[in-house]
Amino acid sequence: MTTTKKAGVLGATGSVGQKFILLLAEHPDFELYKLGASSRSAGRSYAKAVKWRQTATIPQSATELVVVECKASEFVDCDVVFSGLDSDVAGDIEKEFKESGLVVISNAKNYRRAPDVPLVVPLINSSHLDVVARRVKQEKKQGFIICNSNCSTAGLVVPLGALIAKFGDISDVTVTTLQAISGAGFSPGVLGFDILDNVIPYISGEEEKLEWETKKILGSIAEDDSFALRSNMTVSAQCNRVAVSDGHLECVSIKFATPNKPSVEEVKQALRDYVCESQKLGCPSAPKQCIYVLEEDDRPQPRLDRNRDNGYAISVGRVREDPVFDFKFIVLSHNTVIGAAGSGILIAETLFKKGLL
Ligand SMILES: NC(=O)c1ccc[n+]([C@@H]2O[C@H](COP(=O)([O-])OP(=O)(O)OC[C@H]3O[C@@H](n4cnc5c(N)ncnc54)[C@H](OP(=O)(O)O)[C@@H]3O)[C@@H](O)[C@H]2O)c1
Repeated sequence: MTTTKKAGVLGATGSVGQKFILLLAEHPDFELYKLGASSRSAGRSYAKAVKWRQTATIPQSATELVVVECKASEFVDCDVVFSGLDSDVAGDIEKEFKESGLVVISNAKNYRRAPDVPLVVPLINSSHLDVVARRVKQEKKQGFIICNSNCSTAGLVVPLGALIAKFGDISDVTVTTLQAISGAGFSPGVLGFDILDNVIPYISGEEEKLEWETKKILGSIAEDDSFALRSNMTVSAQCNRVAVSDGHLECVSIKFATPNKPSVEEVKQALRDYVCESQKLGCPSAPKQCIYVLEEDDRPQPRLDRNRDNGYAISVGRVREDPVFDFKFIVLSHNTVIGAAGSGILIAETLFKKGLL
């Protein structure tokens, strides 16, 4: 008897979708079972439909699968469906999947603000998945949506959450991002001519997502099982696109609410010591270390540090005192792994370990 779970991928031909294909290809718990994309791709083998842009070759288990349209009836046999759909179409499609009883883990922005939908970065708030567990038990309904965060938010919330857990409330955060071009997707994506020899100081909607999503992820679960925002923390973001293929770098300053400030060494130690639930549960993709604190003056760097623990870990460097706030540091996260597909996989592994798939 097979013990692996059948996985579907929506938007399988896109930037996030291709990462899902790679991460699922040799997964111990999930098998690639159905691939969906637009009607432009449907009916063709995955190898023919996709414009493959990863450095690893297309996994054998995906090449001959025939791409289907993103209709719930095509995916009814799936135990879990990962969505890398464009947000223009994700709303209606994911709703139909949920209403058909399917478990959808989405990378799109459409349901992130819904009060009953968990917004999860599995390295920091997998406890929000417990709401789904209670709801499934009470209502005996299987279909639900869980959202991943925006890619730049995923890197920011992990060190913030680790520091709040150790030292208490953070009142103020400023973050300036240097974001990779893969974060813009493939269609239309960022044009080479625009980004070469250049920095683009605007990413539509990104600053609002960072400022809002951080508060939901680091917020609490209310008595009625809705998600309460961390309203005592102000976040100010500035977002830039830079000519890097993968890996978002973020320059962060923080101010603690407590008058008893920790030292720089205590901040670094708290980041190093942080352990997340997916590590404790033994999830196969969990990083060995959630946060790597780098001591070299010029690290982290996207090309050198983004693939730590296969892109599932966060790197933090240059931790120092801030003359305006309390501390400042640099954060690096792999935007298509822990910032997108990898988060989805880690959420599914957590659900699996908790008996929810
Ligand atoms: N890239 C990142 O780092 C990142 C990180 C976090 C979240 N996200 C979010 O993840 C989602 C996917 O992003 P991406 O960067 O992977 O985008 P992308 O490269 O543009 O891929 C979009 C995917 O959606 C499919 N699609 C488009 N129209 C469709 C339709 N009418 N019906 C069914 N499928 C359709 C495309 O299929 P065809 O190839 O057939 O057109 C393609 O597979 C977005 O919501 C994005 O905001 C991205």
